Amino acid sequence: LPAMTNNLTTTNRHSHLPARNSAVLKRKAVVIGEAVASDDADRIFPDQDFAQQAHVPDFGKYLEMYTWSIEDPAGFWSEMADGFYWKKKWGQQVNSENLDITKGNIKIEWFKGGITNICYNCLDRNIESGNGEKIAIHWEGNDRGVDDSLTYNQLLDRVCQLANYLKENGVKKGDSVIIYLPMLMELPISMLACARIGAVHSVVFAGFSAESLEQRIIDCKPKIVITCNAVKRGTKVINLKDIVDSALSESSQNGVHVGLCLTYANEPAMKREDTKWQKQRDVWWQDVVPKCSTKCDVEWVDAEDPLFLLYTSGSTGKPKGVLHTTGGYMVYTAATFKYAFDYKPSDIYWCTADCGWITGHSYVAYGPLLNGATVLVYEGVPNYPDPGRCWDIVDKYKVTIFYTAPTLVRSLMRDGNEAILGSVGEPINPSAWRWFYNVVGDSRCPISDTWWQTETGGFMITPLPGAWPQKPGSATFPFFGVQPAIVDEKGKEMEGECSGYLCVKTSWPGAFRTLFGDHERYETTYFSAFPGYYFSGDGCSRDKDGYYWLTGRVDDVINVSGHRIGTAEVESALVSHPKCAEAAVVGVEHEVKGQCIYAFVTPVEGVEYSEDLKKSLVLSVRTNIGAFAAPDKIHWAPGLPKTRSGKIMRRILRKIASRQLDELGDTSTLADPNVVDQLIALADS
Ligand code: WT7
Repeated sequence: LPAMTNNLTTTNRHSHLPARNSAVLKRKAVVIGEAVASDDADRIFPDQDFAQQAHVPDFGKYLEMYTWSIEDPAGFWSEMADGFYWKKKWGQQVNSENLDITKGNIKIEWFKGGITNICYNCLDRNIESGNGEKIAIHWEGNDRGVDDSLTYNQLLDRVCQLANYLKENGVKKGDSVIIYLPMLMELPISMLACARIGAVHSVVFAGFSAESLEQRIIDCKPKIVITCNAVKRGTKVINLKDIVDSALSESSQNGVHVGLCLTYANEPAMKREDTKWQKQRDVWWQDVVPKCSTKCDVEWVDAEDPLFLLYTSGSTGKPKGVLHTTGGYMVYTAATFKYAFDYKPSDIYWCTADCGWITGHSYVAYGPLLNGATVLVYEGVPNYPDPGRCWDIVDKYKVTIFYTAPTLVRSLMRDGNEAILGSVGEPINPSAWRWFYNVVGDSRCPISDTWWQTETGGFMITPLPGAWPQKPGSATFPFFGVQPAIVDEKGKEMEGECSGYLCVKTSWPGAFRTLFGDHERYETTYFSAFPGYYFSGDGCSRDKDGYYWLTGRVDDVINVSGHRIGTAEVESALVSHPKCAEAAVVGVEHEVKGQCIYAFVTPVEGVEYSEDLKKSLVLSVRTNIGAFAAPDKIHWAPGLPKTRSGKIMRRILRKIASRQLDELGDTSTLADPNVVDQLIALADS
């Protein structure tokens, strides 16, 4: 159990608030996704009034619930699951698992035999309990003044219409559907429609390139692809339909033929008549979906039936189809949302993540809607048309819970005071600005730094605002039912103050069950490094008070602006360029993005270094993966530092990339130590 020994009343409440606090929010701000460095070990105490009204008002209550969740997981999670509608209750055994690879195949099951439907629990159940006229989704468009909203009743109607359309077109329980949409209301509608009929959705972030989309289409063989013609992001129009066209024709040539592409006409971005069209395959959403009935029976599914696939990056080239099932994911996202955000029915909630990532699945769509919350969905970019847009939206909808990534906070901070102060509508000098952050922020907005992953489904280590003091930069303590373990290189669990590899000891309901089509890769990637544990891929330390501090990935995965990118994927994109012989990619610290991509490239014999070649190498990554994975820096490399057995020594590359040239360490084991000097000489060319 976490240690919590210090007297809680001695620290100065108003000192050293993390600068990521938003002053304009009414109650809470939440930050996700990356390590936030802090040398400030001072604790930030929850406001007394806030704590008193919280679901978990103090550490004692947390310990009581946490202890119960660990000693009796079946009892604890059954109680959490009881709030939902189950057509049939799960069997005698609530959960069963094997996380120990030495004892056979890895298996995780929760609520098996229980029959339910997550769409029903998000919509019908909330409507039956009297919330039909409550706003489910406020939608804010890219351009100011363009907005819309749907009540729970209206959302259900829309979901049913699409669900009926999908059924009429042959989509059945267990079939997969690819959704390639920007943050329109049609995105959560599409997810819920799939869930309603038992189809498995696979949302592909609309920033992925045609090649990435094609790769995913080939892997999961969808019955249908749902997209829109185009989207406006800031002033740019992105022609999504062209990307889908190219992905579909390529995948056809590779033996996976998708016969139907349902396309939403996003007219503010592009007119229908300007959209390229293939009559036998493409259908306008607006022509067919509104004609369908607004009543659609639910397909009841087993708790362990798949809900969705979401591809994520690993340390090897091929993206992994993380598979989540229905019952455990439902119970877990709902519970984490409720407790970590201290959600109350009067809250207005905004998560800036895109539904193309797990954050959007769990905390734009499912977690909030399961709780009957009002959710804001924003189509655009946070700093368009100006850096004050975010705070204007917060004010416009009176947002009380704001969940975002550190990268956004850092970029808004960099944009300067006006950005944030614009929203409070008066000029203010820097010392007042600081006061605003420290004093106003502290008394109104607890901050939660939540640690989790695509694989975990929901929060794993997270503050419960109100229950204990924060340490800026620490994700604090484990959520109910989560047993973190910090292990050393040999897989031995360490106690007390320590640092090492972050693992989890037993299963939790939101855990992923497999990698789609590759259970073996699931077992080797996550369960073989340290037998008996789930290994997260992250480094972590625990301080004397039991607080957990995430220290970043220990594998070849980098986190750019909260987006997870595998170095191997970027390398293979670079190497696909005809003039690139070899490439090695590392992550380097970046002021706004957290980390950025730094690529060492060896051109093919005889090719001259040039700016044009750099540009075309970057373009190659954009077209292979997507713009968000474009390297920030191409470093010419006549050779790469390799061991005698040919292994690239990334440790050395990382040091060169971050210009820590006096920390290169031992280079004597290199096959050719001269390459290091060559690389240093070319550092700024
Ligand atoms: C990786 C997972 C935000 C979750 C959704 C992204 C890093 C996540 C934190 C945090 C430091 C964090 C880890 C993790 N990460 N949360 N609070 N502090 N690092 O999910 O794309 O699967 O990425 O994000 O390295 O492994 P994801």
